[in-house]
Amino acid sequence: MMPKDSCDITSKNADCCSSATHNEVDYKNHWNTVYTKYEVSKLGWYETESSPILELISNCELKKNDPILFVGAGSTTLIDSLIADDFTNLIANDISKEGLETLKKRIGKQSNLVEWLVDDLTQPQELNKIASVKLWIDRAVLHFFTEAEDQETYFNLLQSKMALNGYVILAEFNLSGATKCSGLPVKRYDVNILADKLGNNFQLLNAFDYVYTMPSGDKRNYVYTLFKRIK
Ligand SMILES: C[S@@+](CC[C@H](N)C(=O)[O-])C[C@H]1O[C@@H](n2cnc3c(N)ncnc32)[C@H](O)[C@@H]1O
Repeated sequence: MMPKDSCDITSKNADCCSSATHNEVDYKNHWNTVYTKYEVSKLGWYETESSPILELISNCELKKNDPILFVGAGSTTLIDSLIADDFTNLIANDISKEGLETLKKRIGKQSNLVEWLVDDLTQPQELNKIASVKLWIDRAVLHFFTEAEDQETYFNLLQSKMALNGYVILAEFNLSGATKCSGLPVKRYDVNILADKLGNNFQLLNAFDYVYTMPSGDKRNYVYTLFKRIK
């Protein structure tokens, strides 16, 4: 049985991904198993609509053809919403090919509006090759990187790919959030920790705590932040 403070994979307890230390986990296999074994709408991070992120995006000065990178996109419905909003230059990244395949199938013909990048944010290869982006979106991905080295790789990639005047949305478990998700330990954040990680190239535009309700009805506490690259 999953620990009480973990974010369960689905509305029922799952047996595929019990707690493990960083070095014991094959992350690609872990996430592919999750997306193969469970229906997306039952996952403990599924949203019918990603309202807080859409709200933050509506406050960004973006052109419809600006490049938007969603890291650790999985099968998020946010891609569907951005396509419906006429954004035409979307990049969906994930370590899990299965997660992205599920999303690709769901959006069907419009999948050609998206560049699909299966790559590991903690050992980026394909991600290193992309041109700069005007919006970086992360919901519930960074918090899985509990090792300082992985966080450093993540923020180095972000710094190298963010265009001047571009925006960064980071939505992670907050300091009162769960300590585990999908059987994996997480690092929790608040706005100050995130601002510190981004450094003085970025200006904070907005931040708020948000309680997400999982398909099971359980609640998870997130912090949502919007930053702009100013230098
Ligand atoms: C909790 S899910 C969130 C999915 C999506 N962001 C959403 O809001 O629906 C975490 C996602 O991060 C992806 N992920 C985990 N580690 C990753 C890594 N090192 N590189 C890229 N993606 C990763 C997982 O495959 C999974 O899709």
